[in-house]
Amino acid sequence: MSPSATPTIPDPVVEPGLDPHSFARFEDVRPTHFDLRLDLSFRERAVEGEVEYTLDRRDPDAPLVLDTRGLRIESVEAAPAEGNFRPTAFLLGPKDPILGRSLTVALGDGDARVRIRYRTTDAAGLLWLEPAQTAGKQAPFVFSQSQAILARTFWPCQDTPAVRTTYTATIRVDEDVRVVMAAEALDSPDARPADRTYRFRMDQKVPSYLVAFAAGDLAFAELGSRTGVWAEPATLEAAAYELGDTERMVEAAEALYGPYRWGRYDVLVLPPSFPFGGMENPRLTFATPTILAGDRSLVSLIAHELAHSWSGNLVTNATWEHLWLNEGFTTYFERRIVEALYGPERAEMEAVIGYADLLDSFEHEAKDPALQRLVVDLAGRDPDAGMTQVPYEKGALLLRTLEKAAGREVFDAFLRRWFDEHAMTSVVTDDFAAYLKAHAPASVRDFDLAPWTHAPGVPDGAALPDETVFAEIDRAAAAFVAGRTGVDDLPLDRASTHEWLRFLERIEQAPPDALEALDARFGLSQRGNAEIVAAFLELGLRADLPAARARAKTFLLAVGRRKFLVPIYRALVEAGRADEAEAIYAEAKPGYHALSRAGVEKVLEAARK
Ligand code: BES
Ligand code: ZN
Repeated sequence: MSPSATPTIPDPVVEPGLDPHSFARFEDVRPTHFDLRLDLSFRERAVEGEVEYTLDRRDPDAPLVLDTRGLRIESVEAAPAEGNFRPTAFLLGPKDPILGRSLTVALGDGDARVRIRYRTTDAAGLLWLEPAQTAGKQAPFVFSQSQAILARTFWPCQDTPAVRTTYTATIRVDEDVRVVMAAEALDSPDARPADRTYRFRMDQKVPSYLVAFAAGDLAFAELGSRTGVWAEPATLEAAAYELGDTERMVEAAEALYGPYRWGRYDVLVLPPSFPFGGMENPRLTFATPTILAGDRSLVSLIAHELAHSWSGNLVTNATWEHLWLNEGFTTYFERRIVEALYGPERAEMEAVIGYADLLDSFEHEAKDPALQRLVVDLAGRDPDAGMTQVPYEKGALLLRTLEKAAGREVFDAFLRRWFDEHAMTSVVTDDFAAYLKAHAPASVRDFDLAPWTHAPGVPDGAALPDETVFAEIDRAAAAFVAGRTGVDDLPLDRASTHEWLRFLERIEQAPPDALEALDARFGLSQRGNAEIVAAFLELGLRADLPAARARAKTFLLAVGRRKFLVPIYRALVEAGRADEAEAIYAEAKPGYHALSRAGVEKVLEAARK
């Protein structure tokens, strides 16, 4: 920086930097800590924010570059480590439809802090719900979802998983609701502060996509000594039952890959509008209520989000092009936890279902061979494009293949060391490749990763899951499709959730009247298990069954989880019911998150052409 009194901004147009989804020049200037103050207005659906950054200036001549989207910047100030803030020059770059706008902040000699005031009323990373859209119907609700690049829609930040910071946060609300955050609460969980101001602290460095909060009528139930669940009072009992194995899951995870490093592990069960199954926000997993099946049969989702406490939150993909390092490791780890708690057969069933989903994604959302590689090129594209089954299931299959080749015990030790030695850092695939070469058990040291990371499809030699766990189900499905077995003779009276899901996946070709009889006999469309209902609805809609159409409407109006919405809307459209799909969507849209809306709109738009 030249020794002038008023620093200026050298280059107003900033291109994406080392991370193709961020304008940040974090190699030059990066935050190490921030203090975030948010004022949330339910009445205006507005966020009034102030963030103060502490900076690490590696290049003393470079400005600070942050990501923003839809933020109105009200003031930007800079200050030395000690001393007063003064206004400083800043510039918002041109609007990129995916990335938003860069915010470049001029820094003077010796400046070590930056303070920004801003406001937004249309943060795509937040979903505001009316009381009617909650279980209790009394209080409004709001939650954040930042992954992959939505943190920048509610605070200006270096929105890249390559940058980690500690933080403190203060969140004030204008309604009588409780605020929770994926951080340590500084107020006791029994008290609701009179000034509706909640304070939090995160002493471990986290990337922006793991900063998360929610506010609503929330109550807490303890599950174990360091585990618990937050939910609306109307949902709390069911949630506490469903998540009753959580403490044991933490213990199983620790036995595999070392101590849980985040203090508490709590789960927040959100209203059904939550767009994902789960989100691994540190200390506080966010989860859809559609896992509350009543029989703990869908809790592998909790195992998954918990596993991210190692793979993802401790060792983080440095860009979304390496998402498999988060999701593939986590899916592998998830199944190891499931195996430890519920036995190898259930874990194998989940692996078989996951593998079928992978092959299915090769036909649909990952049809493009470039998306079938573990390392994808997402420059110029929404990172959402890479969120297929490939990073999850092909990634998990790679680790399973390595485990089989190396032997479980040595491979476990290797993975544990990988987590330990890369804890609190962000990594890319080459880091893993180099580590494998240097430290893997001899039997896999020369394993060729390229067919996995840089070629489409499933490589030769993959350790595929054992489909014989479903032998009886597969036989029954084949006989049912061929009309050899009627509904009364199906061996499904005591079928588990996983067996039902496999069966439903295998009877795509069944005639409409057989599906109708199946529903009449087993009440599939009326079950409390959302996975079973959604799987049946897909079939029932394609067959244009009236009962399926009626149930689909209530389901789509109640649930906002994208994974369910997209196939159900698609089935409606493909059954020639595009008008009905449009009408349902128009009514349901206010309850859907931006990410779910985008997924549904893609299906509906394709139908309009
Ligand atoms: N981190 C993901 C969710 C995510 C990924 C959000 C990429 C945005 C971009 C989370 O851990 C996840 O994978 N959730 C899954 C559940 C899991 C059991 C496969 C989901 O929501 O379906
Ligand atoms: Zn995940």
